[in-house]
Formats: sequence, C-alpha cells, structure tokens
Amino acid sequence: MPHLKTVVHPVVWPQERDLVTGGAGFVGSYVVEKLREKGCRTIVIPRSRDCDLREAADVERLYGQARPTLVIHLAARVGGIGANARHPGKFFYDNAMMGLLVLEYARRSGARKFLGVGTICAYPKLTPVPFRESDLWNGYPEETNAPYGLAKKLLLVQAQAYAAEYGLNAVTVFPTNLYGPGDNFDPETSHVIPALILKCLQAKEANLPQVTLWGSGRPSREFLFVKDAAEAIVLAAERHNDPEPVNIGSGMEIKISGLIRLIARLTDYRGEFVYDTSKPDGQPRRHLDTTRAKERFGFAARTSLEEGLRQTIEWYRAHKMAVGAG
Ligand SMILES: NC(=O)c1ccc[n+]([C@@H]2O[C@H](COP(=O)([O-])OP(=O)(O)OC[C@H]3O[C@@H](n4cnc5c(N)ncnc54)[C@H](OP(=O)(O)O)[C@@H]3O)[C@@H](O)[C@H]2O)c1
Repeated sequence: MPHLKTVVHPVVWPQERDLVTGGAGFVGSYVVEKLREKGCRTIVIPRSRDCDLREAADVERLYGQARPTLVIHLAARVGGIGANARHPGKFFYDNAMMGLLVLEYARRSGARKFLGVGTICAYPKLTPVPFRESDLWNGYPEETNAPYGLAKKLLLVQAQAYAAEYGLNAVTVFPTNLYGPGDNFDPETSHVIPALILKCLQAKEANLPQVTLWGSGRPSREFLFVKDAAEAIVLAAERHNDPEPVNIGSGMEIKISGLIRLIARLTDYRGEFVYDTSKPDGQPRRHLDTTRAKERFGFAARTSLEEGLRQTIEWYRAHKMAVGAG
C-alpha cells in the first residue's frame, strides 16, 4: 500500500464547516457547545429521522449539502450491557455501516479532517491495566460488548488505511465510560451510572430496605465526566494529526461495589445491596493509560467522580421534577 504523508491543514474554528454526526446526542450536545465556544459559525447536525447514516444515499446527500471541512463522527447505536446483549446484530451492523459511510464520504467530498470516536469496549477482555493503545489488538473484546467494540474498531483501521492511501487527516480517539447531566436514564438502554442512580433514588422514595444489582460488584470501571470528554474531543479535532489511536479517560479506577456506595451516599439511600451473580459482570477491569492524550494534545480530565456524580444526580432530580410537572 502506498504511504502518503497526511495532509495537515491548521484548524481555524471560525472558518471551519463542521459536520457533527450524533451532535444532538448525549456527548454530541456537549461537543457542539464547545465548538460554539471556540467560535465555530457553521455546525451541521444531522438527525436520524431525516438522514439515516446507515444509508449511502442519505450520507451522500448530507455531504453534498453540508460540504464540511471537518467531520466529528459521534453517531452510534449505544447502550449498556443489557442492550448490547439483546441486540448484538444491530450494535454491530449500525455502528459498522455508519462508520464506513461517514468516513468514506468525508474522503470523497474532500473534507480536510475526520475525527472518529471509538470506545473502551474495543479493548481485549483481559488487557493489562492500565490499557495502553498498543494493546488494542492483543485479544478479543469481552463477549457482551464485542460486536459494538469491534464495529467501532473498524473505524480505526479505515482511518489508518485512508491516511496511508489518500493522505486524509483521519484520527480516532477511544473514550472510557462517560456520564453526566443529560445521560440516558432509560432502564432498557442506560449505562451503569444512570442505572445505579435511578435504583438508589427509586429505592429511597419507596423506602425499600434493599436493592438488587446486576453481577458481583467486583469489576472495576473508569469514568469520565461528559464535559471533560467533549473538551478532549474538541482538543483532538484541533491539535491531533496522527492516525495512531488515543485513549481519552480520567485515569481513575473504581469497583462497581465502591461506585454504588458513593452513589448511595450522594442520593442518601441507606439500604442494603444484594448482588445477582446470575447476571453478567462484563469486562473484569477497565482503566486507561491517558499519557498519550496529555502528550499529543494536552488533555487532562478536571472533574472528580464525586463532583460529576453530584451534578448528574442534581440534573436528574431537576429533569424528573420538570417532566413530572409538565
Ligand atoms: N456514552 C458513553 O459512555 C460513551 C463511551 C465511549 C464512547 N462513546 C461514543 O460516543 C458517541 C456518542 O455516544 P452518546 O452516548 O452521546 O450516544 P447517544 O446519546 O445515543 O447519541 C447518539 C446519536 O447518534 C445518532 N444516531 C444513531 N443512529 C443513527 C442513524 N442511523 N443515523 C443518524 N444518526 C444516528 C442519534 O441521532 P438522533 O438523536 O437524531 O436520533 C443520537 O443523537 C458514540 O460514538 C459512542 O460510541 C460513548
């Protein structure tokens, strides 16, 4: 394969035409807010009801209208362990198709830069901790989220191939588990933090003496506050010009049993927790090495888990009250 030198144009935010797929979603809305703070004037946010990014004709039309100089690809089918386990086919197909098409048409339309967003679920199940980018290919991901993780890892291969063959400035970042105000609290599809907050608040309201949790409580996770994640994504879009993958995390690690104790304290739930070990634990440990993000584009997380959880719980309480009042 020929290896072209990646063509790098400096990012000048007020002059860019940004296409942010998934820009109305949880992470996307914070990314769009950051882009506006940076002075971006043109930000195109396609919605799935008008533009299905799994369909080539829709993606071609979108690029024809938007003519972006810079693409941030966040659109995805996303969910917790339960949703991944129920819909492995949809998680694989939707994410693979969206990635393939959004990057291919970025190339065809002459976009100058493409930033793809992967996931920590792409890492092998038993990666040595902390996970280094060089370990991404050293094994198969944890079974419950492998179709999602591998579909997102295709983006990295495609970005590297396009950088090598076409000189496209295509970069890929791999965020850890994210959380924050605006997160998805639907019990069918939510991730672990909103699921645990909801359980504690409901148990407190109903005066329940105990709450049953999925799995053993022993796995560990790393969490990054969504505003910090948006800052990292925008910094990478601005400053990172290398197809090597980059982790985006907070550098902390906490067991699920510790997380639930913290959430119980912050929601003032005083009951007991019972672990249902017939339910899957997911990956045993998750903790990213975040050195590369610091070195390459100066990103370091700022929000502590406790502060981030406090803001998330406050948001949910206010949001739920608003919904109830409406
Ligand atoms: N949340 C996390 O913990 C986490 C962790 C690591 C990485 N990530 C990555 O971050 C990105 C954003 O995740 P998120 O949590 O913000 O998800 P989200 O809130 O579910 O947002 C995803 C967005 O994708 C769009 N979308 C889905 N299917 C589409 C389709 N067929 N055509 C067009 N648009 C479609 C949706 O647009 P509409 O609103 O118009 O339907 C939605 O706004 C994803 O790439 C995810 O893999 C997330």
